[in-house]
Amino acid sequence: MRRTIDWADGAIVIIDQTALPAEFRLLELRTVDELVDAIKRLAVRGAPALGAAGALGVALAARRGGDVRSEADVIANARPTAVNLAWGVGRALAKLGEGADAVLAEALALLTEDEELNKTASKHAAELVLAECPRRPLRLLSHCNAGQLATVGWGSALGVVWHLHERGLVEEVLVDETRPLLQGARLTAWELAQADVPYRVQPDGAAAAAMARGLVDCVLVGADRIAANGDVANKIGTYGLAIAARYHGVPFVVVAPSSTVDTKLADGTRIAIEERDARELTEYAGVPVTPPDAGVFNPAFDVTPYELLTAVVTEHGRFTP
Ligand code: MRU
Repeated sequence: MRRTIDWADGAIVIIDQTALPAEFRLLELRTVDELVDAIKRLAVRGAPALGAAGALGVALAARRGGDVRSEADVIANARPTAVNLAWGVGRALAKLGEGADAVLAEALALLTEDEELNKTASKHAAELVLAECPRRPLRLLSHCNAGQLATVGWGSALGVVWHLHERGLVEEVLVDETRPLLQGARLTAWELAQADVPYRVQPDGAAAAAMARGLVDCVLVGADRIAANGDVANKIGTYGLAIAARYHGVPFVVVAPSSTVDTKLADGTRIAIEERDARELTEYAGVPVTPPDAGVFNPAFDVTPYELLTAVVTEHGRFTP
């Protein structure tokens, strides 16, 4: 598959993740405003892909001239939880003194690294899963989308599935639909179908029941920010899944490139959690599904304490808090 996000003819080119699975279409982003809008609408999403978006956004700003530092600030703050976004912006911005070409070269290097690091991290995690889970073939549970679409290529948590599937070791993936924006049902299921990996989509609320029935050998998720003590921010629902997994004795593995680790934060209580528009819950495909004045609590992420995790794995192997 082509890269989720790339650079071509002076523009950022992304796979439009709002259109999948109905339509595979590309979007060309030629201004910082277009990029910020795409990030906010989740046309490009997933922590590592946001890192690439941040770096390419600075490259775009640098080529167009103007106040690059304040545009970089706007990009870095488009979404607050995934640390990769500000990290990607910072990495490209550090080259600004060397000119626009140097900024672009740095951004493109980051993209290449992202593919390599996610492949390595997910390879380490695949070995860990094989060591932790005796059953063959494996039944895995995925939440949100931590696949190719959430990275420049390959994927983190879903990257583990690709490694295991290559070896014929995957029986099925249970895919949490991932309310309210359905990254699991729309994107993870689409990726698994493309790769011919057997899967079933389930409502998020079915995950604990699936574990109770003995249908899950391991839970695999990505991360948006990992604090120094190993606490992990990821898509809303991850925390509940980890509690259920612990109760049922199911291993729970987090996979992410080390750019997701934020050593400046001592623990997960300090991670900023994005709250999203109420309409994501009060409407479904534009149709109202709540009383008109329903109050809404719509955090996009939650924080799972490190003690509930079997392991956090990066390209360096098992993360040590
Ligand atoms: O709101 P999203 O779709 O950007 O949330 C994405 C997630 O929570 C992913 O699990 C996380 O970014 C890891 S992706 C490798």
